[in-house]
Amino acid sequence: MLLTDSTIIITRSNIQILQIDNALATAEISLFGGHILSFKPKHDNRERLWLSSKAILNGKKAIRGGIPICWPWFGDHKDSQYSAHGYVRDQQWEIISSQDTPKGTLVSIKPSSSQGEGFAGNTQLVLDVLVGDTLSIQLKTKNIGSEAFKFNCALHSYFTVSDINQCQLSGLSGKYLDKTQGFDSFDTPTPYFFTEETDRVHLDKAPKVDILDGTQITTVNSRGHDSMIIWNPWQDKSIAMADMADDSYLTMLCVETAITQGEIVKAGDTHTLEQIIS
Ligand code: BG6
Repeated sequence: MLLTDSTIIITRSNIQILQIDNALATAEISLFGGHILSFKPKHDNRERLWLSSKAILNGKKAIRGGIPICWPWFGDHKDSQYSAHGYVRDQQWEIISSQDTPKGTLVSIKPSSSQGEGFAGNTQLVLDVLVGDTLSIQLKTKNIGSEAFKFNCALHSYFTVSDINQCQLSGLSGKYLDKTQGFDSFDTPTPYFFTEETDRVHLDKAPKVDILDGTQITTVNSRGHDSMIIWNPWQDKSIAMADMADDSYLTMLCVETAITQGEIVKAGDTHTLEQIIS
């Protein structure tokens, strides 16, 4: 079997989930969507990821919370018949390998197919997840065709916070494009607090963003990206979404490591998008 001693597979609703429990951390990874649902390092036993209490686990709709994999486009496709954030977050994934190492459990998974309508690239997509003292995620896009292609993507991480009204971000600077204002450009605020719906594409290759939540700090290290997305739907949009409780915007914040400007991958090359959560 492909599983290590620290990993079991459970089924919740219609979804198969890898449950990892090793010396350093626990985690859950859904094989629907290749979607990480939970990460709790044992040194502080604090859940880092937010999963909606109303998440729909029917194996059809992308799961609300955790870390959706947005690929091979981010946000809306220019052709509106294709759904937002690409086609692998609502697809079945499979295990390639798993291994217990001194640094934690390393699991490699892939979608059942990385080809799909709305994207012409010939690719092999692999997600490597290392569940250890930190959660290290690498999304590897390999061009196995003979032509270069361009793609966008995101590790769309939802973090749990105690109270969004008290939360602050640090580590971002420069301009951002505001989706709530027709993508107009603004300067990153300092200090960076939250008082309203926030949907921003920061054109910033920030290597490290901290979520300051009272005395707790969650750190997001990123590599291979050209943008960071900061999203909180606030009250009206939470109420409008069937898979979010009305007041759930108070305890979540998305900090997403993304490519939004189009990354070109030449034939034979591999692009790695990385996020490390601590
Ligand atoms: C964010 C986008 O990345 O994802 C938002 O910037 C979007 O505009 C949000 O609303 C959630 O998207 P979805 O498709 O999962 O509801």
